[in-house]
Amino acid sequence: MLASSSTVLWYTMRATGIVSLVLLSATMVLGILTAGRAKSRSWPAFAQADLHKRVSLLAMVFLAFHVLTAVIDTYVSVGWMSAIVPFASPYRPLWTGLGTVAVDLMLAVAVSSALRQRISARTWRGIHWLAYGSWPVAMAHSLGIGTDASKLWMDGIAALCTSAVFGALAWRIVGHRRARERAAQVGAITRAVPVRGDARTPPALGRRPDRTGSAPSPSAATRPQHQRSATRLLEKDRP
Ligand code: HEM
Repeated sequence: MLASSSTVLWYTMRATGIVSLVLLSATMVLGILTAGRAKSRSWPAFAQADLHKRVSLLAMVFLAFHVLTAVIDTYVSVGWMSAIVPFASPYRPLWTGLGTVAVDLMLAVAVSSALRQRISARTWRGIHWLAYGSWPVAMAHSLGIGTDASKLWMDGIAALCTSAVFGALAWRIVGHRRARERAAQVGAITRAVPVRGDARTPPALGRRPDRTGSAPSPSAATRPQHQRSATRLLEKDRP
């Protein structure tokens, strides 16, 4: 079995662990921003999604080095099995096991993303939610086992990662609530208006297509007032 012990290996393991944690946190932030449809002229949605994907791949590369060096280094006895099977490590089984759980969850997310075209969107989204579980577990592993966990700079890195992820989550929850309130307002406006001719449904909620198959779009000036308000409210939520 491949095994070795050296200062280089030990430092590489610790350094790649810390870089993995930072990249994993960045992946979470980018994922939350993309899912919440964060808007910016200089940073379009496709660029966010692309960056999210690339940073997650980079996190996996550093993680692979971290696990490999942890297993190879005989300074601690982690064992090959614990790279995949949680709590199988003779060295600090609980904390090392949490690292393995985080890796397993990340692998499930990565594999489902690779198979995205072949599985349903619902299944993919369900598995992708596991990412929300992997991040806190990885953080617990990092702070519970790390030699550097007691150092101020490591606490600073952990605090920065935590506030970035929680900040993004708070932004998403607030945005989601606002979108729901707007949808409720749109519903109230459309219900409150008496049904007359085809003025029942605002165009943004789906008008019947004409004979050519395309939905007719009356000019803003000719649309009834309630339709214009509903359309404006809906447009606020568009990515
Ligand atoms: C998402 C998964 C993981 C992340 C983000 C992660 C990150 C980290 C971090 C930040 C440290 C602290 C380094 C230091 O303080 O210098 C660490 C330590 C460690 N990790 Fe991981 N790790 C993960 C998974 C794993 C797995 C699967 C294993 C084992 C197979 C493992 C084995 C270890 C060991 C043995 C240490 C102890 C280093 C020490 O005692 O200082 N890690 N990890």
